[in-house]
Amino acid sequence: MMATMAGSAFGLRATTALLTLIVLSLGGVTDAKFLSMPFTTDFDIFGTGTYGPDGPWQAVGVMLGNHERKSHLVPLEGPSVPVWPTAASMVALHSTKARGKYNITRSGNATKPFLEITEGTSENKASALFRFADLNSNHSTAGVMVIDAMTFSNLRFEEPGYANVQATIYVMDSSVITYPNNRTSDPEVGILGFGRPGDLDFRGTSVLVQMKEAGLISSSSFGLHIASVPLKQRGSLILGGYEENRVIGPVGVFNKTTGLPATYLTDVSVGFEGVAEQDREGGSVWPNPVPDQASRVGLDRFMQPSKKNGIIAIPNPAVPGIYLPSPVCANVATKIPVVWKEDLGYYLWDTTDPRYDTVMNFGGYMAFTFLDSTATNITIKVPFKLLNLTLEKPIVDEPVPYFPCHDTDSYNTGIWELGRAFLQGAFFGVNYDTNVTFLAQAPGPDMEQSVIRSLEPEDRNMTSLPAKAFVNSWRKQWPELIIPDTESTLGPGALAGIIIGVLAVVGLLLAGGWVVWRRRQRGRGAQQLSGEQSSDSDMKSVRELDSRAKSEAKECPYPEHPFVEIGDSTVVELDSRSMRTVKTSRDPSQFSEAPSSPCVYEMPADNPFLDREREKEREVDKEKEGQR
Ligand SMILES: *[C@@H]1O[C@H](CO)[C@@H](O)[C@H](O)[C@H]1NC(C)=O
Ligand SMILES: *[C@@H]1O[C@H](CO)[C@@H](O)[C@H](O)[C@H]1NC(C)=O
Ligand SMILES: *[C@@H]1O[C@H](CO)[C@@H](O)[C@H](O)[C@H]1NC(C)=O
Ligand SMILES: *[C@@H]1O[C@H](CO)[C@@H](O)[C@H](O)[C@H]1NC(C)=O
Ligand SMILES: *[C@@H]1O[C@H](CO)[C@@H](O)[C@H](O)[C@H]1NC(C)=O
Ligand SMILES: *[C@@H]1O[C@H](CO)[C@@H](O)[C@H](O)[C@H]1NC(C)=O
Ligand SMILES: *[C@@H]1O[C@H](CO)[C@@H](O)[C@H](O)[C@H]1NC(C)=O
Ligand SMILES: *[C@@H]1O[C@H](CO)[C@@H](O)[C@H](O)[C@H]1NC(C)=O
Ligand SMILES: *[C@@H]1O[C@H](CO)[C@@H](O)[C@H](O)[C@H]1NC(C)=O
Repeated sequence: MMATMAGSAFGLRATTALLTLIVLSLGGVTDAKFLSMPFTTDFDIFGTGTYGPDGPWQAVGVMLGNHERKSHLVPLEGPSVPVWPTAASMVALHSTKARGKYNITRSGNATKPFLEITEGTSENKASALFRFADLNSNHSTAGVMVIDAMTFSNLRFEEPGYANVQATIYVMDSSVITYPNNRTSDPEVGILGFGRPGDLDFRGTSVLVQMKEAGLISSSSFGLHIASVPLKQRGSLILGGYEENRVIGPVGVFNKTTGLPATYLTDVSVGFEGVAEQDREGGSVWPNPVPDQASRVGLDRFMQPSKKNGIIAIPNPAVPGIYLPSPVCANVATKIPVVWKEDLGYYLWDTTDPRYDTVMNFGGYMAFTFLDSTATNITIKVPFKLLNLTLEKPIVDEPVPYFPCHDTDSYNTGIWELGRAFLQGAFFGVNYDTNVTFLAQAPGPDMEQSVIRSLEPEDRNMTSLPAKAFVNSWRKQWPELIIPDTESTLGPGALAGIIIGVLAVVGLLLAGGWVVWRRRQRGRGAQQLSGEQSSDSDMKSVRELDSRAKSEAKECPYPEHPFVEIGDSTVVELDSRSMRTVKTSRDPSQFSEAPSSPCVYEMPADNPFLDREREKEREVDKEKEGQR
């Protein structure tokens, strides 16, 4: 408990040092229900929070176990782990055996393992789902499936402060990625699946459905932009909605007929912003017809039979690269200064080639054209500046810039994958209530103000910024390129956006967990505890806190006061019409004394899902007893 308190005070001191203004907005957004999840780079104060060796990448942070936030000003505390958000149907976490943080024996509430997965069981039912990690990343794993508690914290400074969920978890006791040169690494980042376990006959309920049923989000949906670490662009993951400023131009809407967020890719080309194709080496690189027999199978299975000139591609943040039928990447390579390294299995940038500067700084991009379910062509431009990633140890001994495109076959699935490299420049979302996948152009590093919109259960569309927002967001990255000035693309939601932007900044400082965990990771704690010990005390204090909070818990949808006062500090009170700004105290000690909110937001105690699980376990136990 002492360690927890010390950790909390440290975290608050570090964050409040940056905090000069608190804005609480409750009037304007009361009926919007969404949760904005923290990325590992949001708490950069203690280090990097980025992941390689083929990135750098940013991941999303989630907490193990159930935690409750006593008030808006007290961060959540507990062991946090990094995950890739995907449309997979489960969560995959590294156990302590695989140098991760998840330990079933220590987790009081995990169900008994209900499925064991051994390496190389490709016929296993689980394999379809593992494709989210192992198909193109060659990720070999083994472990067991359980159902256990997790907590998602909200970056934003308002309801819901957090969400307690029960997740179907694949506990990876071994986990190894083999690179094309046969070197291996032990990955650190797990997987957060937003899909329905039932779609793959697994036990459990999707985390989004639970949050929707608990009234925390308005639909079982998510909106994601992985964004770029080298260009210092924050990632965005909204549950129950999306950030409108991450969506540019027409939005591709794809009917989801299987558990997979399948999209239909019809063309890939190379282009230069504001330059005619013939003036530089641009144009389509799409082989015609696509030579892989498996694509026929895939198309027949997933798409309208009339569409035969494209391929099925699934956006998948769990894999690093862009995986396309041969020879798409080879064709791109003829137009840009990259060299194929056979021994390495990657394309490396030739930074000495004079064309390198042209491709990077004069608006060069790789464009992906999709045909969506409404027969609309959607083109997404991924600037080559985003495709200048870095290979590091253990793949190579010295860091080297590489081009993350891979010509692959589809391993007889008829499906190719668009991984994180693509998703740096694309918006990806799914609404599970209407069974649609969204794909759209995302902005470059100089984005418009944040405007978060919720998705309703019947929504099959979303609003976006006008197409010109793309060039505006890249202008500073392409200084030598002369593009005619266009007006600001600030939409009608601009004011709300500015407010929400400030909220996000404040909220992310307080979102909790991550800061404390990061500090402990680096052993800078006031009490020199090892990671293991501190997690242990976390769990204990969580249990204590749980029992206390439970008895005080009171259901109330919104705080009684639309602002919070902390000691002599003052805050901005804001409703939809007015805004007052005052300075806050910088004395961090006052934050520890913040009045605790009487409202506790949690899954209803009579969670039907939990009851069903317990019922099942009782039945299994009875059966076993019967057999004896
Ligand atoms: C486990 O479940 C019990 C009862 O449902 C609850 O009181 C406790 O807080 C939970 N513990 C964790 C770590 O989630
Ligand atoms: C998991 O937790 C249990 C109980 O705290 C402990 O005995 C065990 O050593 C832990 N396992 C690992 C691999 O850390
Ligand atoms: C994946 O890694 C294994 C070694 O773990 C290797 O035998 C296999 O060839 C690799 N597969 C691909 C497609 O690279
Ligand atoms: C990697 O290992 C596989 C089989 O284990 C072998 O076929 C392949 O040539 C190796 N690749 C390299 C680059 O050494
Ligand atoms: C997509 O789904 C909608 C609603 O279910 C349906 O009206 C439409 O015809 C479908 N489109 C395609 C191409 O399957
Ligand atoms: C989509 O693009 C393809 C090829 O680029 C073109 O043939 C087709 O007419 C376009 N469809 C629409 C609806 O614009
Ligand atoms: C490409 O990436 C390397 C790091 O691998 C970096 O040093 C270089 O500045 C990048 N080039 C451009 C044009 O962004
Ligand atoms: C979405 O898909 C699920 C499972 O496949 C199905 O139960 C549900 O009815 C579908 N919803 C709509 C609106 O099509
Ligand atoms: C979707 O379209 C409907 C009808 O055109 C509109 O009323 C609704 O506001 C749109 N939703 C979003 C999120 O843009």
